[in-house]
Amino acid sequence: MATVLEKIEDLKARQEKIKLGGGEKRIAKQHGQGKYTARERIERLFDEGTFVELDQFVTHRCVNFGMETKELPGEGVVTGYGTIDGRLVYAFAQDFTVEGGSLGEMHAAKICKVLDLSLKMGAPIIGINDSGGARIQEAVDALAGYGKIFYKNTLASGVVPQISVIMGPCAGGAVYSPALTDFIYMVKNTSQMFITGPAVIKSVTAEEVTAEELGGAMTHNATSGVAHFAAENEDDCIEQIRYLLSFLPSNNLEEVPVVETGDDPNRMEEALNEIIPDNSNMPYDMKEVIGLTVDNGEFYEVQPHYARNIITCFARFDGKAVGIIANQPNVMAGCLDINASDKSSRFIRFCDAFNIPIVNFVDVPGFLPGCDQEYGGIIRHGAKMLYAYSEATVPKITVITRKAYGGSYLAMCSQDLGADQVMAWPTSEIAVMGPAGAANIIFRKDPDVAEKTAKYIEEFATPYKAAERGFVDIVIEPKETRPRIITALNMLASKRDARPAKKHGNIPL
Ligand code: HXC
Repeated sequence: MATVLEKIEDLKARQEKIKLGGGEKRIAKQHGQGKYTARERIERLFDEGTFVELDQFVTHRCVNFGMETKELPGEGVVTGYGTIDGRLVYAFAQDFTVEGGSLGEMHAAKICKVLDLSLKMGAPIIGINDSGGARIQEAVDALAGYGKIFYKNTLASGVVPQISVIMGPCAGGAVYSPALTDFIYMVKNTSQMFITGPAVIKSVTAEEVTAEELGGAMTHNATSGVAHFAAENEDDCIEQIRYLLSFLPSNNLEEVPVVETGDDPNRMEEALNEIIPDNSNMPYDMKEVIGLTVDNGEFYEVQPHYARNIITCFARFDGKAVGIIANQPNVMAGCLDINASDKSSRFIRFCDAFNIPIVNFVDVPGFLPGCDQEYGGIIRHGAKMLYAYSEATVPKITVITRKAYGGSYLAMCSQDLGADQVMAWPTSEIAVMGPAGAANIIFRKDPDVAEKTAKYIEEFATPYKAAERGFVDIVIEPKETRPRIITALNMLASKRDARPAKKHGNIPL
């Protein structure tokens, strides 16, 4: 019979074997591709020495195609928990060195266990995907595994932040777990997501495309809008994930984290008084407005490469995290289109689900006109913004810097959609439509059309008509924007807002 010491040595040997995953050769191949192994990724993601691995000894029970003799260390996925900046976080990382990180029944069960724990404990979950997809030998057992993960992702949605990281292949139905989560990170040149790969596409549609063009990081960050963040390499990716978490509460019952930023809450910014061009058709960079207003000029953009006509980002005011939605006059004059509507609506709903106050910077001339937009369903997509803002019960502050015309003015969170405080710069033009167009309709048959149009613009392209009706709460000097927002956020800290009881609403999808 083995002695206690021998039993301990046996445990260590078993653990060492599992830690080697698919072995030195496959680890070297992974490194050769510019990729870390699953365990190296986990080590870098968590605070040093805090990660506790669960289910190391779980094994598959497949007996098809010679699998009964195949050992798959760790079942091809590392799962567990630890801390990031001192806060509890759960994670799983698929191990490509073990049977290509393919997902079988027990691999899925390990992932489901940490999803359940994250939900129960109210802590974020990070999933690192690097896998050849369903483990072919396990057939429908593998499919059922995916189904269970999708189901649990959906249950966890809006309860704990879910972050997906693509650090290798993620193909077929496997893409739908990341798609169900809140944020997707992709690493340039080493990660791909697609429903069907280049070979299948070629055989079905005769299109020829590389894997990177089809589903690489920039494809999904700039073109499809599937991903939210692109990283230069895996180290950059991990650093970005840790940064994102610094803005988020751990669950839907917690308030946002507060950090000491050292920036003066009463800071006035003279530069803001000069940022709006005299000619109201000239563009300017709304990111400058954001940078001059938030703590230390620091903000983290979500989907910076997609629908650049709208900016969505996390930032802090007096140390407290907020979500910012802002029109970008520098891109398509800041018009709202289908992609901008989708991008911002999802962001608004994330912020609302996780108690993150929303600050809007508005300079919007309207919805983008055109057949493409109408045929693509701008009515349905634009409605998402109205729905998301109306539904949101977190503090909502709207700052109008210049144009706020028609339906797009409402869609950027007007008072009627529940903005708790609407501030307008004196450069604001809040009107039913562009004032030149409006005057042209009213005075079309008038002999003094030019003179009357000029007078109309002077009178109506201002914040004061809206302020007269109380639709604008305060007209402020641009330089005061930061202290005004901070004062409003402090006033709104105790906000309580209820909605009618229902199973769930029916957002236009
Ligand atoms: C079982 C798999 C596997 C899989 C890879 N492997 N994918 N084993 N099931 N799905 C194994 C390989 O046999 C190999 O084993 C090892 O993992 C590494 O794979 P390589 O092919 O050598 O790696 P590489 O050249 O880098 O190519 C990676 C790859 C390729 C492009 C991902 O492996 C591939 O095309 N795999 C199949 C992808 C696929 O068709 N999946 C769809 C499954 S259906 P050895 O022993 O040689 O190291 C699906 C439906 C899900 O996913 C639906 C959910 C709703």
